[in-house]
Amino acid sequence: MITPTLQTIFRRRSIRVFTDQPVPPEHITTLLQAAMAAPSARNGKPWEFVVVTQPEKLAELRAHLTTGSFTAPLVISVLANPAISDNPNARKMFPQDCANAMENLMLAATDLGLGSCWVANYPNEDRMASVRLILGIPEDVFPFCCAYVGYPGEEKPPRTQYDESRIHWQAYDPLRHA
Ligand SMILES: Cc1cc2nc3c(=O)[nH]c(=O)nc-3n(C[C@H](O)[C@H](O)[C@H](O)COP(=O)(O)O)c2cc1C
Repeated sequence: MITPTLQTIFRRRSIRVFTDQPVPPEHITTLLQAAMAAPSARNGKPWEFVVVTQPEKLAELRAHLTTGSFTAPLVISVLANPAISDNPNARKMFPQDCANAMENLMLAATDLGLGSCWVANYPNEDRMASVRLILGIPEDVFPFCCAYVGYPGEEKPPRTQYDESRIHWQAYDPLRHA
């Protein structure tokens, strides 16, 4: 059964071409609400966000992020601030927690008719240093990734990448991947 939520999951694709149309402020709020609805270890919510719409700052990000050199009217920098989480064990979970927030944000973007693409920062030191410098992020806060967002200028078909050979039932079967 393909529910509307599942349709959104299958429709979310990496969009790297955008129109010039700006993303309305109320949509930006919705994206952040979706991100912050994500599950996190011990509900530590170790995330912070920098919303970037200024053309000069967007150009700087484009110029310094080699894997994010494409143009988008909106970039949301997803930051990990592990100190926010009050449990030391949960603090180590920030990559999972921030990834959950990012996926929620991208799914919300899809539902709002927006395109999005994950541009990696963490754990690449050079990319994190660039984002730190451009956005003024302190040393104890990690630039985790950037969400490039805008109205799609390219179309990609919905899909699952379902692959039965990746599934093991009851216990791992080494022959499954032989
Ligand atoms: C952890 C992670 C890092 C990624 N980094 C980049 C990136 O730096 N630049 C980029 O264009 N796409 C990046 N992507 C997008 C992937 O290339 C994309 O998700 C993958 O090719 C599957 O395509 P789809 O998103 O359309 O399903 C990243 C995705 C993830 C999950």
